[in-house]
Amino acid sequence: MTQDFLDNQQYTELSILSYEAIYGHNYISPGGEKATDQFIDTLKLVPEMRVLDIGCGLGGPAYRLASKYGVHVHGIDLSANMIRIAKTRLKEEGLQHLVTLEQGNCLEIQTEMTFNVVHSRDVFLHIKDKARLFEVIAKTLVPGGRLYFSDYCLGQAKSSPEFKTYMRERDYSLHTVEDYTKLMEEEGFKNVSGEDRTDIFIQTLKHELNNLEKSSLLKQEKNYLYKIWQGKIKRTEHGEQCWGWFSGEKSK
Ligand SMILES: C[S@@+](CC[C@H](N)C(=O)[O-])C[C@H]1O[C@@H](n2cnc3c(N)ncnc32)[C@H](O)[C@@H]1O
Repeated sequence: MTQDFLDNQQYTELSILSYEAIYGHNYISPGGEKATDQFIDTLKLVPEMRVLDIGCGLGGPAYRLASKYGVHVHGIDLSANMIRIAKTRLKEEGLQHLVTLEQGNCLEIQTEMTFNVVHSRDVFLHIKDKARLFEVIAKTLVPGGRLYFSDYCLGQAKSSPEFKTYMRERDYSLHTVEDYTKLMEEEGFKNVSGEDRTDIFIQTLKHELNNLEKSSLLKQEKNYLYKIWQGKIKRTEHGEQCWGWFSGEKSK
């Protein structure tokens, strides 16, 4: 996935603001602040830890990590549009003492920086070479450091032609929860866990349809997004698509 593709297709400035109307202020991932709180409460963070947020988007999860737990967060995102808006939002949040932002590809991150925790929300679907991704992440973690991420996944049911088109148009690369955990283990992560959290995902998608209804987006935009969200609900209820929460540890 290239920066050009992200900035000119899925994450134009206009589409970022439309997604935000559905997910919530500063969020471009399922469940906004509510799901973020559920997710980050499992991270066992203590003040002053260093956290890398891969694909930080507008920074919602990074601001929450910093303000709730007093950790230092470095956010990296490949989209220049995301980082430009995120820099304004960071000032609004007044968290510049705890959060730094960088525009760049996580696969090319400078590995002399090390982190206690790597956090990522619904980003890895954009990255095809998962073996390389996990290898880079392991290099950025301190010994015993932990990786936590959520991602769209393939369910057990066969993918419909509509789902295949959806993935192809976005250039998504999805795995089943089981395959993802195997990949992490193959890359040397220990105590790997992969949980199917489709229960939260379905509730969240339905709630987001309400947000869309109430939003001030133009009718045409609402109709377009409504169809996308209905498609996600249908595929998820049918077992083609699911949502995974993962964690693993780098060896000490
Ligand atoms: C669904 S959004 C999630 C944003 C954010 N994590 C959140 O929860 O609001 C996915 C993000 O991943 C970023 N991304 C995709 N490929 C990337 C890469 N190779 N390196 C860094 N960021 C990437 C996109 O630009 C986008 O901002």
